[in-house]
Amino acid sequence: MSTSSSSPVFSPAMEPDEGARAATELFREVFEAEPDGVWSAPGRVNVIGEHTDYNGGLALPIALPHRAYLALRRRDDRTVRLVSTQTREQVDVLDLDEIGPKGSPGEVRHWASYIAGVAWALEQEGVSDLPGFDAALVSCVPLGGGLSSSAALECSAAVAIDEVAGLGLAGSAEQPDDAGRARLVAVCVRTENEMAGAPTGGMDQSASLRCREGHALELDCRDGSVTHVPFDLAAEGLALLVIDTKAKHSLVDGQYGARRAACERSARILGIELLADLSAQDLPAALERLEASEQGSQEDADILVRRTRHVVTEIARTKELVALLQDGRPLAGEKLAAVGALMDASHESLRVDYECTCPELDTAVEAARAAGAHGARMTGGGFGGSAIALVDAGAVQEIARAVAAAYESQGFNPPAFLDAVPSAPAGRVH
Ligand code: GLA
Repeated sequence: MSTSSSSPVFSPAMEPDEGARAATELFREVFEAEPDGVWSAPGRVNVIGEHTDYNGGLALPIALPHRAYLALRRRDDRTVRLVSTQTREQVDVLDLDEIGPKGSPGEVRHWASYIAGVAWALEQEGVSDLPGFDAALVSCVPLGGGLSSSAALECSAAVAIDEVAGLGLAGSAEQPDDAGRARLVAVCVRTENEMAGAPTGGMDQSASLRCREGHALELDCRDGSVTHVPFDLAAEGLALLVIDTKAKHSLVDGQYGARRAACERSARILGIELLADLSAQDLPAALERLEASEQGSQEDADILVRRTRHVVTEIARTKELVALLQDGRPLAGEKLAAVGALMDASHESLRVDYECTCPELDTAVEAARAAGAHGARMTGGGFGGSAIALVDAGAVQEIARAVAAAYESQGFNPPAFLDAVPSAPAGRVH
């Protein structure tokens, strides 16, 4: 079957009412009861600052309108029953006293680990005797698209459990408690690292729990501090087009972990805790040291040089882009060109130095730029997943068509597109 390049496919976000209704209906159908409420949490795209989070650097994510909706009801025992639209026929039944991390006898499989795992991680962090719960999940965050579909599950469970168990960490959607949410971020990261076995940093969960509507989140991963940077692209006649390459993307297949391990090795050789401790000025000397370091082979040393150069230059680019967004001038003309150039340079660094792009990502970025995007780059972990392009609002369809046409001519599967409007963080819907 071939999809015509003249009709790019957009993945729409559910409206909150629609998501809440669908999750409630699934809950009623399967559990024959009313849920206590529906909570939702967004996926994210990162504007810039990639592979910096586990290095203590800066990232700049926004929350997507695409969210996971979780209808949930507290139980009086320690049982957890889970169902989703994708596994409607099969309810996962778990016991909070028996579940455990990946590789242990209590290992929880697939998506259920992201939900039940949050209760497990909360208890590991000192919250005792959580109640069990029944929950029904409906999500419109594309799976495996590098848009943090798993963080959306974790964060929807975190705010739901927080409320039904009376933990009081998250605050309300209107008045979020940011310090409490930072604690929930740590819980969700632990879920991802230990229950799902993905050695990720905290950017995705921070975005889902701590972003604000109409803003990008400047996240300092060294101390967890955040700044909400106004990012109302529509008001500037612009849009952020997400291109889901549909190329396989996994954070547990070793490539992501290998990048992280290389960064940690560089930091050890340089005698610093995290690569974010290295300033752009210190970079040339540090790279010389890495080159001369006693590595197994010259190839190893070269890899450390390139990984380190990406991280340090990416943090500098992120700082620069945030400063531009905050300078009070309209996002147009030279300023728009400068923002686009930083995005382009980020992609180039990820392609050449971090080696985590792939032909589908590179094609998406090149085709978007050729069709008039101001800047384009891969977003998220890479090795597949999604790219973003900063485009004129009126050019979205045309640029999407050009990317779809480039995919067709390369023989790739058709990509999907999303409109990335900076949206609200995790919270209760109904
Ligand atoms: C994935 C991880 C994040 C982050 C990005 C790369 O999305 O989950 O923690 O490391 O990759 O910036």
